[in-house]
Amino acid sequence: MERTKILVTGGAGYIGSHAVVELYNAGFLPVIVDNFSNSREQVLDGLEHILGVRVPVHNVDCNDEEALRAVFAEEGNLRGVIHFAAYKAVGESVAKPLEYYRNNVGSLLALLSVMREFGVNALVFSSSCTVYGIPDQLPVTEQTPTKKANSPYGATKQMCEDILRDIAAVPEQPLRTILLRYFNPIGAHPSAEIGELPLGVPQNLVPFVTQTAAGIREQLTIYGDTYDTPDGTNIRDYVHVVDLAKAHIVAVQRLLNGQGETVETFNVGTGNGNSVLEVVQAFERATGQKLNYKIGAPRPGDVPAIYADVTKATAELGFTTTSTLEEALASAWHWQQALDQKK
Ligand code: UD1
Repeated sequence: MERTKILVTGGAGYIGSHAVVELYNAGFLPVIVDNFSNSREQVLDGLEHILGVRVPVHNVDCNDEEALRAVFAEEGNLRGVIHFAAYKAVGESVAKPLEYYRNNVGSLLALLSVMREFGVNALVFSSSCTVYGIPDQLPVTEQTPTKKANSPYGATKQMCEDILRDIAAVPEQPLRTILLRYFNPIGAHPSAEIGELPLGVPQNLVPFVTQTAAGIREQLTIYGDTYDTPDGTNIRDYVHVVDLAKAHIVAVQRLLNGQGETVETFNVGTGNGNSVLEVVQAFERATGQKLNYKIGAPRPGDVPAIYADVTKATAELGFTTTSTLEEALASAWHWQQALDQKK
């Protein structure tokens, strides 16, 4: 039987590559579009090792509407799209707002135009818990009001959500879309063939932790321990990337089956909040590695605490997480070790 083709923009990226695996395992044919601006071609080898086949790949920038059009024409029968491709570094977005607005908003607009032209009407969009800003209440539900974004990166996610809601509000338009608000994805595929591949010094916590344990970085700095949280460090909801990837498959199936509203929003996290210190301790327990760390100054723009209420995703998508924090951290460490061996 012919596999249903799903376009995966940013399919060579961290979350995208894990979604490609789950899509293929669920019987779909993922078609990758990626411009490799924040990913490496070696991801494609990792995917091939896991899947036993090379999935189609187009080296295309999603802002290039002409090139996207050519992909849709060449592939012929795309049924849906998962749009991962975007810039994602909070700090960098403050320094380069124009690049962030142009890339993140521009690529969505180009993609939507081409989707409409080709009658492709199912879209899963990568949103983020960053849309909640600093929430008044925890955990956050999808009804929690969004606040002014803390960064241009966050603003691009809010704008993209607004664009999709405006389009979905037009009664005669055929687009159906699911906005997945990711909390903090961590960990790697159990095969250690794919994982997070930060270019340069990692900005995110877990790759910095694994690189410190591996001796690539000397010391982790915990950004502040005087927040209004039990141990004073920031609280986040760390979700295993494979669990997160699986949410996309359910979302795609829901769109293709015509279930749900024309636009729907779901939190994707574990429902648990963990502090930075708890992550460090869990990493040490899970791997037996002692981590060299110090407490430093707070990082500008950090939200003191946020974690998800996942009742809606559980009830309507049947989404559940299967990995503990320790398991996710162990998989990240396994991936770091595999990377070091490949060097
Ligand atoms: C943020 C965004 C998230 C976005 C992600 C992309 C929020 C609430 N979240 O995640 O939507 O997708 O960036 O990169 O805005 N930390 C340290 N030392 C380090 C690195 C991080 O202590 O060297 C701490 C941070 O202060 C934070 C936690 O670890 O409390 C997680 O940080 P990080 O992995 O960068 O993710 P977020 O900033 O939560």
